[in-house]
Amino acid sequence: MSEGITDFEGRTAFVTGGARGIGLGIARALLRRGVNVAIADISAEALDHAADVLALPQERLRCYRLDVADREQYADVARRVAADLGEVTLLFNNAGVIDSISPARATYDMWDYVLGINLNGVYNGIQTFLPGMLASGRPCHIVNTSSEAGLITGGSGFLYHTSKFAVMGLSEAMRDELDHHDIGVSVLFPGPVATDIVQNTRRIRPAGAPAHSPRVTGILDAAHLHLHRDGADPDGVGEVVLDAVEHNLPYIATRNRSREALARRTEEIVAAMDHAERMLSRLGDAAIKHT
Ligand SMILES: NC(=O)c1ccc[n+]([C@@H]2O[C@H](COP(=O)([O-])OP(=O)(O)OC[C@H]3O[C@@H](n4cnc5c(N)ncnc54)[C@H](O)[C@@H]3O)[C@@H](O)[C@H]2O)c1
Repeated sequence: MSEGITDFEGRTAFVTGGARGIGLGIARALLRRGVNVAIADISAEALDHAADVLALPQERLRCYRLDVADREQYADVARRVAADLGEVTLLFNNAGVIDSISPARATYDMWDYVLGINLNGVYNGIQTFLPGMLASGRPCHIVNTSSEAGLITGGSGFLYHTSKFAVMGLSEAMRDELDHHDIGVSVLFPGPVATDIVQNTRRIRPAGAPAHSPRVTGILDAAHLHLHRDGADPDGVGEVVLDAVEHNLPYIATRNRSREALARRTEEIVAAMDHAERMLSRLGDAAIKHT
């Protein structure tokens, strides 16, 4: 298993969705370790604000407008980052939206929109930066942001759950395959974090997206309040993430309150396997008797 990264000073990191919330927390934690940081975000306004509050010279921090779902734009931004800050050896695929459209109102466009950002956006980052990481000849690290909604379903809408489960699977499989290249892969699955993800997503919802039902609108309003009342501090989450990079940990959590639900899910899956073994062996006996 690869060692974690400890020689942060002077490296270049790329953080998507880095202008606000958890991404900004990760960017701050990186900057504290002497990493030069490229922040990418779809919101020009949020990028301007991040640049203002971080207030660092251009050789330490650059901000790029990017829609992670757009592969051409991604390649263009990556070329600029390499020229501005050098080869990216730390990648944080963090940009995300939460849109809890119900299956009854969903459309192909909504599927493409949410999965395009939350899942394809993660893969686009890996596809873009992996060749440079492999060529760099030094240990590298990738962190993909999933969610507790990528471990257990309930309350976040099927599109969000689907995208976050997929990011868990992608991260676990890539970790196994990239380890011998000295590239660590971790997956972050936060519980509630005090960010404006609900409102930010509302602002960039595509024109023509089906309206949410009053029930889903209520769920999202309640989620917004819940994140700010009970959510972890994004800067604290940034530190937890960097600790995981230092130790090359596979999983990064922000709390420990889903143990029972996760255990229940695992038990039900294992019970289904046991049931199938028993049933197939009974059917097998019967099939042999009747032939
Ligand atoms: N806040 C939570 O409680 C929580 C919990 C679990 C997982 N997450 C995940 O954490 C990640 C960060 O969320 P956050 O809570 O910090 O939200 P946030 O809204 O504060 O930050 C997300 C950032 O991503 C940007 N973004 C959205 N779409 C983009 C796109 N297409 N291209 C580039 N940038 C884009 C937004 O403009 C925003 O600045 C997301 O993947 C989210 O699903 C958040």
